[in-house]
Amino acid sequence: MLKRKDLLGLKDVTTEEMEEILSTAREMRKILDQNVKKTPHLQGKNIVNLFYENSTRTRTSFESAAKIMSANAINISASASSVTKGETLIDTGKTLDALLTDVVVIRHSMSGAPHLLAKNVRASVINAGDGMNEHPTQALLDIFTMQEKFGDLKGLKAVIAGDVKHSRVARSNIWGLRKLGADVTVCAPKTLLPMGIEDMDVSVSTDLDDCIEGANVVMGLRLQLERQQAGLFPGAAEYNCYYGINAARLNRADSDAILLHPGPINRGLELSSETADGEQSYILRQVTNGLAIRMALLFLLTRAKGKEQDRK
Ligand code: CP
Repeated sequence: MLKRKDLLGLKDVTTEEMEEILSTAREMRKILDQNVKKTPHLQGKNIVNLFYENSTRTRTSFESAAKIMSANAINISASASSVTKGETLIDTGKTLDALLTDVVVIRHSMSGAPHLLAKNVRASVINAGDGMNEHPTQALLDIFTMQEKFGDLKGLKAVIAGDVKHSRVARSNIWGLRKLGADVTVCAPKTLLPMGIEDMDVSVSTDLDDCIEGANVVMGLRLQLERQQAGLFPGAAEYNCYYGINAARLNRADSDAILLHPGPINRGLELSSETADGEQSYILRQVTNGLAIRMALLFLLTRAKGKEQDRK
């Protein structure tokens, strides 16, 4: 049974813990197929979304998951909070503790911010994306979607293509997929590959036409234009020419392959509209599955914390 207080990344999560989260999410997914999407699992719990960076999918998904499970869900965006008056992250966290918060879901531009918060608050902390480090709930929903399609992921060939250097989604997926026995290839121009990526037990390629051959899962990554330094690639047209996922490239993958992307998409840059909206695209399914993953995590973390408090 999941005993941890926080979910900060998949690097430190065991395979057994991941399997428990995924199997709980499969139960939660059934609730989403019901006519009335409401359960009392989190009645009386306070969930705070503390977002220092913009988000559509993750924040809405956590809010919706909390509300489906009858929790109180509160959104705080940094630009409308006392952060603008100079309040520290720890002081903000302690204030949320004093407001009887059970779970803080945090997104922050600084890698490690959720870890700092988790050390200093009583509430459970979920990392909703920290800098270029991890985005564990995105990877869990990606893995959930792959399992839904393929079952066991052992030996599955997954290609993660695009801006790997700046991608917390890629890092969390690599940790999670390797733990479940999938073979992972990351593909990008050399300037968009982080140093030491080979040490994560993945294959590395700069040739998308080559490595996409026979892939079961093709995951496009958003080109993170807001995090780019100048000169990492010559221009959008050239990037699209060599690394854009279009119908011709996707045809080189296995005929049953699925296309994933965490969103938001730069249409016409890393993905053509034809592939993003095509039959092999599971992008919107990923979004729905994200609800089930977040419901599972909110349930498991608050249950683990409740049991710990009962023992005291
Ligand atoms: N995948 C993802 O994190 O999307 P948002 O930035 O919209 O939350």
